[in-house]
Amino acid sequence: MSRVLPTTTKMKSLVILISGRGSNMQALLEARLPAKVAAVISNNPEATGLEIAKMYDVETVVIDHRAYPDRKAFDVALAKKIDFYRPSLVALAGFMRVLGDGFVNQYKGRLINIHPSLLPAFPGLEAHEQALEEGVRIHGCTVHFVTSRMDHGPIIIQAAVRVLPDDTNETLSARVLQQEHRIYPEAVRLFMKGRIKLSGSHVEVSNVASENSVLYSPELHK
Ligand code: GRF
Repeated sequence: MSRVLPTTTKMKSLVILISGRGSNMQALLEARLPAKVAAVISNNPEATGLEIAKMYDVETVVIDHRAYPDRKAFDVALAKKIDFYRPSLVALAGFMRVLGDGFVNQYKGRLINIHPSLLPAFPGLEAHEQALEEGVRIHGCTVHFVTSRMDHGPIIIQAAVRVLPDDTNETLSARVLQQEHRIYPEAVRLFMKGRIKLSGSHVEVSNVASENSVLYSPELHK
């Protein structure tokens, strides 16, 4: 006798790419997302984030970029591994390799990054130093879709923090990091719920209760 099994809707999944500490990855693992983290992939075998991922029982993979003759070969190997997990979304979380055009185009609209500045200000390394150097009053972080330009692309959510007169790189980066851990899971949640629409170079977020869903400014009203 055959039994009719109930149809289940398959849970969406996410692959996270890291290179180091993995605190944003951990924020994603701790968040209650409407998606499963299928794997954490690191290009760096020494990334401490790999140990954290294991503590959360998440599959970890190392694809050491040094084992490949060039960037393209690394990108191809990385894409092959990502596709094995069939994720709806790929999230860069402190992933320190520049990805080539082919890779970026392959994942267009489902590849996101977090950067510790209010983009388009201060792309690249040492965003906090750049902000302090320029004497900006407001700094923050951005979750954005990835394009082939580094730290550039349609902006999903930003969080702003006040720069205090006695801020150092350490104090400022710690305050920004707190906000990173808040907006990255939120961006993934919005994506997984199908509430993010990429419209040219802009992102439209549907059903936002208030502007606070896409812009956090926790300290600016103090
Ligand atoms: C974060 O500041 C992130 O915005 C940037 O790299 C850093 C990674 O930190 N892209 P972690 O590995 O997530 O702790």
